[in-house]
Amino acid sequence: MDIAKRHNLKVVEDCCQAIGAEFKGQKVGSFGDFGCFSFYPTKNLGGMGDGGMITCNDENLYNRVIALRNHGGAIRYYHDELGVNSRLDEIQAAILRVKMPYVNEWNAKRRENAYRYNEMFAKYPEILTPKEVENSYCVYHQYTIRIENRDKVHQLLQENGVGAMIYYPVPLHLQKLHKELGYKEGDLPLTEKDTKLVMSLPMFPEITPEEQQTVVDTVVKCLNMTKQAV
Ligand SMILES: Cc1ncc(COP(=O)(O)O)c(C=O)c1O
Repeated sequence: MDIAKRHNLKVVEDCCQAIGAEFKGQKVGSFGDFGCFSFYPTKNLGGMGDGGMITCNDENLYNRVIALRNHGGAIRYYHDELGVNSRLDEIQAAILRVKMPYVNEWNAKRRENAYRYNEMFAKYPEILTPKEVENSYCVYHQYTIRIENRDKVHQLLQENGVGAMIYYPVPLHLQKLHKELGYKEGDLPLTEKDTKLVMSLPMFPEITPEEQQTVVDTVVKCLNMTKQAV
């Protein structure tokens, strides 16, 4: 925010995976000029279809966003600028209103599950588990590990009935969409290395310790299979 202020920039926080997360006791989505949240069904607070929320703390920005989500018009059928159709539909709003009071409780359960995974993986130092930054309150939308032979382990996990996922297979700077920016492989070596190592394991508030143990045992089994195959 200091850098942004010095250069007169606006800051948009992408909080899509982080509803309820905090840094130094402050909720994400309240640091920048805007906070963007996703209510995609699999998110920590999910609707029954697409939806999202933008937070801001400035009346002018608020009015502009309200207009932009409605084809750029603050007054019906009068369009001041080009907007989009991004009105949250009422059915989603009704469902999200009912679910919202539970999000802190669900986040607390995700945290317990993450710490349980950490303990279960502790005796396998070759599998790297998530580290929390000091003063942060993580809400574990994903529980992401780093593991050697990732692609092979991932494939074996699918074959063994564990729904692990790779978020994300292509980093932003190598997406076709950003070709005109001129980045090439090797420009962001740490990102590219992690892209090849990360894998997210089943994580949701209701996962049981037994299910987590099955996930951990299967990951270890699959990793050992890849080592034997080499
Ligand atoms: C970090 C992040 N940003 C943005 C998005 C996009 O959210 P939506 O699909 O609701 O537009 C997602 C959803 O997957 C996300 O995880």
